[in-house]
Amino acid sequence: MVAKTKRVRRVGILTGGGDCPGLNAVIRGVAKPAHDNGLSVLGILDGFEGLVEGRAIELYNKDVSGILASGGTILGSSNKGDPFHWPEKSNGDIIITDKSKDAMKYYDAWGLDALIAIGGDGTMNIAKRLSDMGMNIVGVPKTIDNDLEATDQTFGHDSAVYVVSEALDRLHTTASSHHRVMVIEVMGRYAGWIALNGGLAGGADIILLPEFPFEWDAVFERVLKRNMMGKKFSIVCVAEGAKPKDGEMIVKKVDKKRTDPIQLGGIAEVVAQKISDNTGLETRYTVLGHLQRGGSPTPYDRILSTKFGTTAIKLAIKKKFGRMVALKGNEIVSVKIEDAIANQKLVKPDDQAVEAAIAIGVCFGTKNL
Ligand code: F6P
Repeated sequence: MVAKTKRVRRVGILTGGGDCPGLNAVIRGVAKPAHDNGLSVLGILDGFEGLVEGRAIELYNKDVSGILASGGTILGSSNKGDPFHWPEKSNGDIIITDKSKDAMKYYDAWGLDALIAIGGDGTMNIAKRLSDMGMNIVGVPKTIDNDLEATDQTFGHDSAVYVVSEALDRLHTTASSHHRVMVIEVMGRYAGWIALNGGLAGGADIILLPEFPFEWDAVFERVLKRNMMGKKFSIVCVAEGAKPKDGEMIVKKVDKKRTDPIQLGGIAEVVAQKISDNTGLETRYTVLGHLQRGGSPTPYDRILSTKFGTTAIKLAIKKKFGRMVALKGNEIVSVKIEDAIANQKLVKPDDQAVEAAIAIGVCFGTKNL
């Protein structure tokens, strides 16, 4: 997109959607070089909510020191602030309105030459629409789910996988001491990357993913087979979006105010109950929940976030707008935001992690793999 301004002097930055480890590292990666290049940086509060409502703070150099290792986001975030899908209360009901003009109004009033939008697919969809309205946007891909096709990895995913792996190590001890089946539910929405990578890193025996609807019998058989072989415990890592072949994903809540109204959750309890009923083995379940989204980023995520942030500000200074930074192999590149949101990245049967898991005897709950 052709820039509106001659030279980029002032950039806004916001973090949208669910928080994840590495957001502060990106903010730091954007702001430090921006300041060094004489730009001013405005931190927009609570994602697009702050842009619509005109809430922002000036980010000075001192504000971005010492935040590399901290989780969450110093700017706040929200998954309810879509300017094109703005929920408002009206006579006790929630009505959806379009507040994109308010977003444009504050962008202009604040004198911004560019906006760095850090977020997942929801944020990138909004970024694309605002960019079509004339806003100069550079995107940075964030999500623990790792489900953006345009980048080999999003930051936050490695940190989530680390937490899952550590949790599985801890569950192993009770599983083996009490000869139990332990089921753990992990996040990921409609993609199984956290369950796959976390399960592989934590030595899960059965991994259930949204991409491969499972057969109950295959799960029961695997647990019983392990038991007969003298392996007195089993670890099942189930993605929140996993579903049996004859069933649906379990929706915990529908909230119209959210960019994605569907909140998943509850499959681990069902899986644990079914295993217990059908095998007679003592079974427990754990829902890892937001533990896997909080805390300090791993070194990998700190480095990726820093590379993403510094590349994003470089793109903004060069006025390469309407683009999102991405990891391709070992290189940070940029892609058009519309290409970034075209497809969701899902686990495929021929993924090397799936093949490696199968090679070491992991069961995906289906005879087709
Ligand atoms: O997209 C990140 C994510 O953590 C998903 O894995 C999960 O389904 C969702 O967000 C949970 O959202 P919330 O924090 O709003 O409950």
